[in-house]
Amino acid sequence: PAVEFELAAPFSVEYHDSIASTNNRARELAGEGATDVVVLADEQTGGRGRLEREWTAPSGGVWLSVVCRPDIAPARAPLYTLAISVATARAAREAGVDAWIKWPNDVVVPTDDTGDYRKLSGILTEMEGETDRVEWIVVGPGINANIDADALPAGATSIREEAGDVDRRRFVQRLLAEFDRYRTDLEAVVPAWRELALTLGQRVRVDRPAGELVGEAVDVTGSGALVIETDDGRVTVSAGDCEHLRPV
Ligand code: BTN
Repeated sequence: PAVEFELAAPFSVEYHDSIASTNNRARELAGEGATDVVVLADEQTGGRGRLEREWTAPSGGVWLSVVCRPDIAPARAPLYTLAISVATARAAREAGVDAWIKWPNDVVVPTDDTGDYRKLSGILTEMEGETDRVEWIVVGPGINANIDADALPAGATSIREEAGDVDRRRFVQRLLAEFDRYRTDLEAVVPAWRELALTLGQRVRVDRPAGELVGEAVDVTGSGALVIETDDGRVTVSAGDCEHLRPV
């Protein structure tokens, strides 16, 4: 296999050279009662993005999904996504990349000081549970790691392009160690996220099912929603309602 792994407790790993989607496999495992299993692949043939989009996932990337069974209310689940974006940005910085977080959960590399960026990583979070309790959450970050520019979609970048190849085993270990630390201390997630956020202070446009919003991104709430100062006052947007966000 391209990557051989043993992970620090509490995680165990299920590695695939090639799989349709690590999130699909993690959902299956979650349904069977698994916990703290990391499904990891060198390549995905049917990678999935947010909002039913396709996700390009050639060999050389870090494509993984973590099965978690936290004792939290579903409203706090977005903090898991923020936690893994913090973990991803930190691991990317350790690999020499100028990584920042674009709300809600893309890890990006700025191209200049106008707020423009290229995307390094996206996260697909899926969960099941009751209204008051989560049964399982699958958090699936995809990182363009050791991938050539010509294999990337438009607007994307990779660790190889930004800083040269990364040791993927080390990268994954760092990412999961950071994630584990924040998921066990959810109060620390938003403050850590704020320090890495590219979005705060930016004038942005957000597309939502309820219509478009334009204003300055001024804060993130304790549950991870973005606060936007518009001409008509402050509006809070949850990650689930965000179809697209861009600086204007
Ligand atoms: C997005 O930005 O739209 C989210 C992309 C998430 C991609 C990752 S790769 C690992 C995991 N398995 C998938 O099928 N998707 C996520």
